[in-house]
Amino acid sequence: MNRVYIKTYGCQMNERDSEAVAALLRARGYRIVQDEDACDVMLMNTCSVRDMAEQKAIGKAGYVAQKKKRNPRFILGILGCMAQNRGATLLDALPDVDLIVGTQKFHQVPDYLDNLRAAQEAGTVLPTRIVDIAEETGSQNTIRDHVLEEKQVSAFVSIQQGCNMDCAFCIVPKTRGDERSRPMDEIVRECEQLADRGVKEITLLGQIVTSYGRRDYAHTDGVTPFVQLLERVNAIPGVRRIRFTSPHPRGFKDDLIQAYGRLEKLCEYVHLPMQSGSDRILKAMNRPYSRDRYRQIVDDLRRVRPDMYFSTDIIVGFPGETEGEFAQTRDLFAACDFDMAYVFKYSIRTGTPAADMGDQIPDEVKEARNETLLKILEANSNRRNATLLGTTQEVLVEGPDKKGIGFMGRTRGNRIVHFAASERLIGELVPVKINRVSTAVLYGELQLAGVGV
Ligand code: 5AD
Repeated sequence: MNRVYIKTYGCQMNERDSEAVAALLRARGYRIVQDEDACDVMLMNTCSVRDMAEQKAIGKAGYVAQKKKRNPRFILGILGCMAQNRGATLLDALPDVDLIVGTQKFHQVPDYLDNLRAAQEAGTVLPTRIVDIAEETGSQNTIRDHVLEEKQVSAFVSIQQGCNMDCAFCIVPKTRGDERSRPMDEIVRECEQLADRGVKEITLLGQIVTSYGRRDYAHTDGVTPFVQLLERVNAIPGVRRIRFTSPHPRGFKDDLIQAYGRLEKLCEYVHLPMQSGSDRILKAMNRPYSRDRYRQIVDDLRRVRPDMYFSTDIIVGFPGETEGEFAQTRDLFAACDFDMAYVFKYSIRTGTPAADMGDQIPDEVKEARNETLLKILEANSNRRNATLLGTTQEVLVEGPDKKGIGFMGRTRGNRIVHFAASERLIGELVPVKINRVSTAVLYGELQLAGVGV
């Protein structure tokens, strides 16, 4: 009765939160299983950023709740952003849910499961439900435990929770709360421990990582707390690669740009959300930068690291977006030459300023704009990958590829590479010569020292 299956929707922050919950549950004697058909407890860690993400989770929860008919002791929990966003009202649509836990209460999940099971043992007749979406001071410090699989190569480290930027489209300030940072020493210690356990690549996570520690630490010689943190992680011997997500363009001052030139472990890949290329729309979105400023950041980064890889987030069809304004987004998108991008059709989020703006854009217009950007992206990605043909790339070997034919890893630019290797190379940085490319994947051959190079 102690098998827990955790299903995660949404971003890397959610994946990280699920991992922390899994680690706590294991320490409490629960078993984390990978087979959803063989579990006694199912926890769904949810996303609210677009309506579709919520609908998907609600549909799934409704389906899973039927298991209760066969097994009244089955426990279904909804965690994370949608739990925070909708709270107990979720029970209107999903009366069979036992547990609703918000984004500041993940660490309570083991206690709550214990309580639910104790109530079952005691033979409580009425359904016992637990709903906790309260705020908790210091909750950002509770996302720190890891479930390290054997030979885990890459790990996420949560450095901060919440966001105070109030972008007009975004539900995150509601679901994740105020911006709160973890102490720098604790983060560094966590990274050191991960490195000691064999982790080679650290991805620092937060909703707005570039604001990390701004209320807690002073700048030193013009260097922000975020860049100070990057410097300290860079100094950990076992760490070989550093990434982070998500930053805000506003955080790309000179200190961060220069960090790409001097911190050798900071990978030449940056996810830099642009959202729109129209100054009027950016203003309406409450994004405090212009298209020119965005372009300048991209150019500055390329000056410091000519081989930089860029990815971005774009929202098409924000309320009132005209053809002309979309054309500005399209042109800036093409000019920045993104290697990767996530293009989203604007989705109304109740309670955000944009939800009440007039002039919502029809779905077919959003769809067409989405297609336009994806075509540009595909061409960019193919062009970039073609330049890699015949080159030798440093690849961090992560494990078997999905099809189980060979192995996969990533370049510093975050390109996925498939190649033949052996188990003992997992976790190693190896040279791979690229001999074939598709839009999304590179294929190559391991260059063993002294052989074939
Ligand atoms: N509609 C569509 N996309 C959104 N995003 C955030 N809110 C919305 C919304 N209401 C996108 C942004 C953000 C990414 C995580 O999700 O592009 O960067």
